Amino acid sequence: MLDALKKSVARSALDYIPENSIIGIGSGSTIKFFIEELSTISKHIKGAVSSSCISEKWLKNFNIPIVDLNTLNSLDIYIDSADRVNYSMEMIKGGGGALTREKIIASVANKFLCIIDKSKYVSKFDNFPIPIEVIPMATKSVSREIIKIGGIPKYRKNFTTDNGNYIIDIHNLCIKNPINLESKMNNIPGIVSVGLFCKRKADLLLVSYFDKVKLISR
Ligand code: A5P
Repeated sequence: MLDALKKSVARSALDYIPENSIIGIGSGSTIKFFIEELSTISKHIKGAVSSSCISEKWLKNFNIPIVDLNTLNSLDIYIDSADRVNYSMEMIKGGGGALTREKIIASVANKFLCIIDKSKYVSKFDNFPIPIEVIPMATKSVSREIIKIGGIPKYRKNFTTDNGNYIIDIHNLCIKNPINLESKMNNIPGIVSVGLFCKRKADLLLVSYFDKVKLISR
């Protein structure tokens, strides 16, 4: 059921791809559907900057040229999904563990188009766990700091990021002010990236429902 919603929002995203552009590509199951859709118009784009090794593999499967971010000054658009999006277009991302590269590409893009199914669009983040990417030697020290701010850190077992780091999922945080929490956690030594995307939030949001795809912009 959710797969049908992911597919329909992925298809709708094609309408927002500028001709002859280089686009940023996120990671995850929704993006897998998007890459399949993108392959149908691949002649209209110059290439893609990928946020993960797995997305890069999917892009290569469809012969979509991979572009190194270091060769670009900016990107027209970054397309990615999220784990949760609130009504201010702030996001929780990193369910797939690719948050650091996703955040880097998002920071360079002129527009962030987020594509989600309706189950992810929420008024509050509530207790959804926030993933953080952590330098391996800092796993314990970061965990102690997380406990001090009221979080329960859960180390993601048997998972190493594309950058050779670990993921801790933080449960139980009271997320009253997501942007403040993002910058507070960004200051903890050893945290590479925080899965709160509030400072750089989405500009355009496509949400798929069973009968339509709704565009929300800010
Ligand atoms: C990857 O690290 C994440 O940020 C994904 O964008 C997010 O988890 C959404 O993934 P799905 O499309 O698989 O739900």
